[in-house]
Amino acid sequence: MTERYQTIDVRPVAGALGAEIHGVDLSGEVPGGQFAEIRRAFGDYGVIFFRDQALKPEQHIAFAERWAPIDVNRFFTHVDGYPQIAQVLKEPDQRDNIGGGWHTDHSYDVEPAMGSILYALEVPESGGDTMFSSMYRAYETLSDGLKSVLEGLKARHSSRHVFGAARAQRSDDTVGRITNPHLATQDAVHPVVIRHPETGRKALYVNPGFTLGFDGWTDEESRPLLDHLYAHASRPDFTCRFRWEPGSIAFWDNRATWHRALNDYPGQRRLMHRVTVRGSALEGTVH
Ligand code: SIN
Repeated sequence: MTERYQTIDVRPVAGALGAEIHGVDLSGEVPGGQFAEIRRAFGDYGVIFFRDQALKPEQHIAFAERWAPIDVNRFFTHVDGYPQIAQVLKEPDQRDNIGGGWHTDHSYDVEPAMGSILYALEVPESGGDTMFSSMYRAYETLSDGLKSVLEGLKARHSSRHVFGAARAQRSDDTVGRITNPHLATQDAVHPVVIRHPETGRKALYVNPGFTLGFDGWTDEESRPLLDHLYAHASRPDFTCRFRWEPGSIAFWDNRATWHRALNDYPGQRRLMHRVTVRGSALEGTVH
């Protein structure tokens, strides 16, 4: 147990981000002192992992609601009877997976989600890991020159190209998993460098999944700089990788991390339940 924590056992999994937390049962009411330390670990590590949990949907929802109200995802098929729980499923005969490229959940919303709590029910024998990358590290390791350019910029984010009608027509592989293309209408503009509302640290806030371009720039003008940032932010030094078992949970901070689900388990089934917790509008670092 690290010295900073008295009621939970926190084991960092990589240099940049991520820690496994042991000694906690999330199926019941987590005691206040323990909950406060879990909250601190979430801030310290950007993504926290739990093992061997047995959660009914109601318990998953109850744990999420201790953080903030639930942000119901309007595009994922939900678990029967539980609109708050998005089903993240890949059947053995499906090719595409959900979340297979680096992204930050809900950055297309005006008030992007604070975090997502993903619970594993069925996992492949091997493969299907999830990777995370630290957007604190991505920002902090840029040159001072590029930092100051980025701090003056905002970026446009959208769900249209991922969940909208054009995408729905292009692929029948997402049938049963992604719905409501008519709701993919809203775009949002956020600062490119945000100040994290709880930790106060600066983080890079663009992502390959949902960012279209810089505000006031064309998509074509934006592309080279975005590509540079994406290559930088996905450097292995900034990442960690989580190997799932049934009963594992990953809870990531969308303001501080990217994630991507690896799609390396053809012919096998993977089933997860995701509850996403509401966030707030993001502040930049320059006013
Ligand atoms: C997601 O992007 O929310 C899914 C991540 C995963 O399935 O590992």
